[in-house]
Amino acid sequence: MDHLNAVGLSILRPDGLAKVTGRALYLDDLPERGCWHGTTVRSPHASALITSIDVSAVTDPDVKIVTAKDVGPRNSVHLIHDDWPVLADGRVNHVGEPVALVTAPTLARAVTAAREVKIVYEAQPPVLDLDQALKGDPRTGGRPNVLATCDINHGNVDAGFAAAEVIVEGEYETGHQEHAYIEPHGVIATPTLGAGSEFLGVDIVGSLQCPYYVHKALTYLFDMSADAIRVRQSVTGGGFGGKEDYPDMIAAHAALLARASSHAVKIVYERQEDIIATTKRHPSRVRHRTGIKRDGTLVAMDIDVLLDGGAYITLSPVVLSRAVLHAAGAYACPNVRIRGKVLATNTAPNGAFRGFGAPQSLFAVERQMDKIAWTLGIDPLAVRMRNAYREGDATPTGQILKESVSAVAVLEKAKTSTRFSERHATNSLARESREDSGRVLRGIGLSLFWHGSGFTGNGERRMMSRGAVRLRADLKIEVLSSSTDFGQGTEGVFRQIVADACGVSLHDVVVHVPDTAVVPDSGPTVASRTVMVVGGLLRRAGEKLAESLRMFAAHQSGVAPAGVLLHNGVFETELGRTPFAEIARKYVALHGPLDAEATFEPTPNSTFDEATYRGDAYAAYGWGANVVEVEVNPDTFVTRITKLTTVSDVGQVVHPVMCAGQVEGGTLQALGWGYLEEMKMKDGRYLNDRLQTYLIPTMADTPDMETILLENPTAHGPFGAKGVGELPMDGGAPALLQAIENATGIALSRIPATPERLFEASKMRRS
Ligand code: MOS
Repeated sequence: MDHLNAVGLSILRPDGLAKVTGRALYLDDLPERGCWHGTTVRSPHASALITSIDVSAVTDPDVKIVTAKDVGPRNSVHLIHDDWPVLADGRVNHVGEPVALVTAPTLARAVTAAREVKIVYEAQPPVLDLDQALKGDPRTGGRPNVLATCDINHGNVDAGFAAAEVIVEGEYETGHQEHAYIEPHGVIATPTLGAGSEFLGVDIVGSLQCPYYVHKALTYLFDMSADAIRVRQSVTGGGFGGKEDYPDMIAAHAALLARASSHAVKIVYERQEDIIATTKRHPSRVRHRTGIKRDGTLVAMDIDVLLDGGAYITLSPVVLSRAVLHAAGAYACPNVRIRGKVLATNTAPNGAFRGFGAPQSLFAVERQMDKIAWTLGIDPLAVRMRNAYREGDATPTGQILKESVSAVAVLEKAKTSTRFSERHATNSLARESREDSGRVLRGIGLSLFWHGSGFTGNGERRMMSRGAVRLRADLKIEVLSSSTDFGQGTEGVFRQIVADACGVSLHDVVVHVPDTAVVPDSGPTVASRTVMVVGGLLRRAGEKLAESLRMFAAHQSGVAPAGVLLHNGVFETELGRTPFAEIARKYVALHGPLDAEATFEPTPNSTFDEATYRGDAYAAYGWGANVVEVEVNPDTFVTRITKLTTVSDVGQVVHPVMCAGQVEGGTLQALGWGYLEEMKMKDGRYLNDRLQTYLIPTMADTPDMETILLENPTAHGPFGAKGVGELPMDGGAPALLQAIENATGIALSRIPATPERLFEASKMRRS
């Protein structure tokens, strides 16, 4: 692609300098301009009736207090189902559930008043895990407990099992995971007041991923028109999915306090409050029953996926859908049955977290593949190689994988880069023949995985996202989209894509901050959709803008439009070369700013039936293989990860350094989930609710990394790019557990692989 100037280069991040020098203004750095402060009174119980709320002890005359009765008739966070109250009304379903909001001119006064709010509860026994949840819904007196279901049927599973030579069964579990974004949740809500101080609307600025989600939630909450609500993103210190759903809640709280006080109100969570009250990754339990031929060929897969949804539905139906669609792994199997279900428990709702259900179900299928390999006595790479998707294979939804299928390619590369099979065999031999010398045990483990880019099924068709570019009076081309940069590098990659689409230089392109009053709705910044879907819209919008300018340049110079090229910031015709700025200046002088917009266009002949779950689940898939090397101390069972090799196909790489950064950071996050990160709970309260006690990997835990990017382009993304955001979360944990198994002979089916869990399992090791 010789027309590329910027795409594919590791340009300087436009946001980098301000961030490393401390000049970037995160929410808590913004000028307060006399704004008030808000705080939240939360439930100490996991399940309880609210008997009374008494605010008579609050004596501060300025303080304003909001409870459910003040919210109005639409007391819910407007996501998929309206079951998540903005403020608890009559009962609480998890520890940390918001019951009352308090605002005052200073935070200290707000906190003092909040302590004076007396709430009387009648506690009930909570349901805190999947075993208890299977007995009934805690919130409805034990009625059947189902927040969402999702099933897939492919081929004939019974006939498949009848033809199988070996049947392998397994059950796999994963726990909560905290996002641990570096900046906690925060918003400032500024009310729009009428002449008599009546509340006419609200302006939100916040640390968030999805400005239009917050916009939708607030127009619903206040039953106001779209233009009464404005939502802007502040510089955001990380999200990982945690700022997809929860900003709707904290923005609603700040807006309610702004309405009550007629002042701008700021709410910033303390870390502990953030961990207690906000969403986590869904815990999971996945059961596999797999029919295979003796050579390892899959003939039937029967999979049950259970997710712990927490107290409210929130995004669980969509998380479950992605979990189910990835549950059979990156493997072809003619007969597949998958049953998925989300159950309610009395914890904070579990929500969006990088990977969105796929890491859970991929952990299970990858451990099941290990079990199959062990049962058949073949190496884990061989069983994967035999079944990995090839072009032309059908997925469990009947989607034919027509292009950009790299399962075998990433496996091959992982194998040759690490000499996997030899080293796996050597470690096994060493383990089996070793004297108990107390020396560290070495292991190597591998995983294969895939991740669908963009919304599932008809999601993109329903969303019909828009993206726009504008040639401004100052001759800059401005990118207008609602896609946020929360550290992953959106701003830079959008500049690269638009510069190349228009044929201008990088410095001619700027990105407007996501602001619902200015930018079109490009959908939320989730689902690994930003580069592939929104980047695709911006590329088309950029090409349209360049086309208009070429027509104008042709008209100006009297040559045919076909004879005008805009390339690298220069208009070229047979008559000569003219800088972009000169034509742009003439255009703007004559006609004013020039806008171009693009709307999502579904792939022709692509269908997905939501009733039967048949059809094209995703336009394109990213592919990955991880190889993890460990040393396990045989006395303490402490695992040290010594080397991580990742092979990823995300199509055309737009920015190699940031892409590698996503892969490395994301895989480390997956490894943390695999052996360090565990939310411990007592009576429904998270015990390790600080970063001192909730352990995530630090530099000291970071292994030597080899990061290999393969580029197998897709026709569905700009310049061939697919999504990279979530893929790295999918394969770290199972590769790590296989490595621990290779080192110790202990085959764990649950993460995290803590020393305690390894010690317990060591009493039952199978070899
Ligand atoms: Mo995401 S977990 O799709 O914000």
